Amino acid sequence: MTGIIPRGYCKGVVRAINIAKKATKEVEKKPLYILGMIVHNQYIVNALRDLGAITIEDKNKTREELLDEIDEGTVIITAHGAGDIVTEKALNKGLDVIDASCLDVIKTHDLIKAKLTEGFEILYIGKEHHPEAEGALLIDPLHIHLIQKKEDFDQLDPSKKYLLTNQTTMSLYDIYELSEYAKQKLPHVEIEQEICTATKIRQEAIRDLPDDVDLVIIVGDPHSNNTKKLASISRDLAHKDVRMIGSIEELNINDLKGKKHVAVSSGASTPTSLTNQIISYIEQFDENDPSTYPLPKIDYDKILK
Ligand code: F3S
Repeated sequence: MTGIIPRGYCKGVVRAINIAKKATKEVEKKPLYILGMIVHNQYIVNALRDLGAITIEDKNKTREELLDEIDEGTVIITAHGAGDIVTEKALNKGLDVIDASCLDVIKTHDLIKAKLTEGFEILYIGKEHHPEAEGALLIDPLHIHLIQKKEDFDQLDPSKKYLLTNQTTMSLYDIYELSEYAKQKLPHVEIEQEICTATKIRQEAIRDLPDDVDLVIIVGDPHSNNTKKLASISRDLAHKDVRMIGSIEELNINDLKGKKHVAVSSGASTPTSLTNQIISYIEQFDENDPSTYPLPKIDYDKILK
C-alpha cells in the first residue's frame, strides 16, 4: 500500500544536530543558547532542550534582536545561517559563537558576496521573515532585494546588472517561473539557481508520482519551508490528495480507508524515526482488521538519531 519517496534528514540537518549535540556536553560549564530553531522541527528543538540547549525564539524579532536576551555563554547560529552582522554582535557581547549553518546556505552567501563586489544588485527569491532569507538579506540590505512574486521585478531599473538567486528550500517550479519572467524584464540579469540537492530530489519525486497514488502524506513541521513546498507541489502540480502531519500522533486513520496506494515523504528536517514509524504503521494497516488501528507511541529517544 505504501510508496516511499525521498525522506529523512538532509546533510545540513545532520550537521546542525551533531554540532548542537556536541555543544550540549559543555552546558554544565556555561549556558548554551540556540538563536532560533536549530532546524525547523519542534521535536528536535525539544530533544535538544532536554540535553540543556535553550532555544531563543520570537517570530516578531530578528536574530540580531534576539541576541539582546543573551548575556553570557555560547550561542549557536542555526542551519539557516545568519548575516555576519549577527555573528559580530554576538562576539562583541563576549559570547562564544558556534556556527551550524548548512554549507549549502554558506555557498549561497559566498556567491552573493562575490557578485556584490562585482557591482551586481542581488535579487533574492525567498520567504519574508524566514531565517534563511533574513540572513541572506543582512549581508547587504541596501543592495539585496527580496523577491516574492513577479510584480516585484516590475519596480526594478532594467539598465542595472542583477544576479537572481534564491533561498535553498523554495519550490523549483516557482523559481523557474520567476526566472523566466525576470529574463523578459531585465536584459542584464544573471541567474544562479541555488535550490539544494535534498530539496530538489524530493520535489522532483513528488512531481513525478505515478497516477495510481491516491494519497500523499508529507511528514514535517509547519515551520519548515521545504516541507510546506512538498505539500504544495503534491497538491498543485501532482494534483494529489495531501495530508501534512508532524508525526504519527496527527495521522487520521480515516484518511487511509479506501486508499490503494499511499506515498510518504518528509521535509529535510523531519526526524527519520517519525517518518519510518508512519510508513511501518501504514504497511500493517488493514481497514478490515480493527486490531491494526491503534496508533503507536512516539519513541522520543530516536529523535536525534
Ligand atoms: Fe541545507 Fe538544504 Fe538541508 S539548505 S539544511 S541541505 S534542506
